[in-house]
Amino acid sequence: MRGLVGGFLGVLALLMPTAVSGISHFSPFRFCQLGDLQIGFGLDGWQNDTYRMHLAAQQVNADGFDFCIAVGDLTHNRYDHEIQAFQTTLPEFQIPVHLLPGNHDINDVATLKQFTRDYNVSDHSSFSHNGYRFILLDSVTLMSNLTEFANYTTAEWAWFESELKSAHRQSEQIVVAHHHLPFEVSEDEPDSYWAFPNRVRGKYIDLIRKYKVRHILVGHRHETKNIYPADRAYAIYVVAGTARFFDDNGFGINYFDVESMDSARDVRQEYVHLRGVTHMKRSEGEPTGCPDIFAH
Ligand SMILES: *[C@@H]1O[C@H](CO)[C@@H](O)[C@H](O)[C@H]1NC(C)=O
Ligand SMILES: *[C@@H]1O[C@H](CO)[C@@H](O)[C@H](O)[C@H]1NC(C)=O
Ligand SMILES: *[C@@H]1O[C@H](CO)[C@@H](O)[C@H](O)[C@H]1NC(C)=O
Ligand SMILES: *[C@@H]1O[C@H](CO)[C@@H](O)[C@H](O)[C@H]1NC(C)=O
Repeated sequence: MRGLVGGFLGVLALLMPTAVSGISHFSPFRFCQLGDLQIGFGLDGWQNDTYRMHLAAQQVNADGFDFCIAVGDLTHNRYDHEIQAFQTTLPEFQIPVHLLPGNHDINDVATLKQFTRDYNVSDHSSFSHNGYRFILLDSVTLMSNLTEFANYTTAEWAWFESELKSAHRQSEQIVVAHHHLPFEVSEDEPDSYWAFPNRVRGKYIDLIRKYKVRHILVGHRHETKNIYPADRAYAIYVVAGTARFFDDNGFGINYFDVESMDSARDVRQEYVHLRGVTHMKRSEGEPTGCPDIFAH
């Protein structure tokens, strides 16, 4: 059946090469989702977080991907030695690793600017790959109500919507990635530390549904699981990463195989443990002491 669908799309692409740019650019590809690398958060010290980032690079290089997305919290404290360790290890990845910020990277305008300097990337960005548009958001700025962020927040919402529109116009399939969970259990759950507050959650979900986004990559939770809304219109992939985990799923990486332009059916996800680690020690309790990004 999949072969038939692929064949059909192939014929379409030949017949309409200019009108449907997303489809005409499609060929299968693989990408990966790195969870919170968060150098400095591990129970066994920042050198070991760095070591596990190095193991992740080896695994990614061996297993063959077009690119990866790291879903924020690149370091724990933005200490110079943590950022230095991250910078030194990143080039070990032989493919592009797209970075976006978490709440440990950005919690005010000064750290937003620092993020763009330290990592030489914007806090939000997008790229197209084989008919798919990847939209990487700064969920900190998107959901914060800090006054100093106000114009950044407005600008990012407008940018997000214009990216969705332009992807839609070009018949691209859309994947969205950011740090925080849109929700943890259901779309209408009460506010919690982990997820978008209700103040902005509805607006976000309306856009996701309107533009038929099927796949959302996040981190922040330090657990590994998939979350779905009641009608399973889209999937939220949460991956704990390589610094600490608070469930029974260990350190690992999400692998994605994109097999057609039918993103609802033909994007396959698989969680793979990090190879070569000397321990898979679960952290007890809950992550605490995280920067506040809200006005009170
Ligand atoms: C920490 O990393 C070193 C390698 O840098 C390794 O030899 C050691 O076993 C690791 N410790 C733990 C607890 O994983
Ligand atoms: C920053 O990125 C730009 C392009 O994105 C590149 O031309 C430049 O060399 C980079 N600078 C550093 C210091 O990596
Ligand atoms: C927000 O305002 C500040 C100061 O007025 C300015 O430096 C900054 O570039 C603005 N940011 C955006 C995204 O417009
Ligand atoms: C800011 O947002 C948080 C979380 O949504 C909320 O609890 C708080 O009341 C808001 N503060 C202000 C001043 O609007």
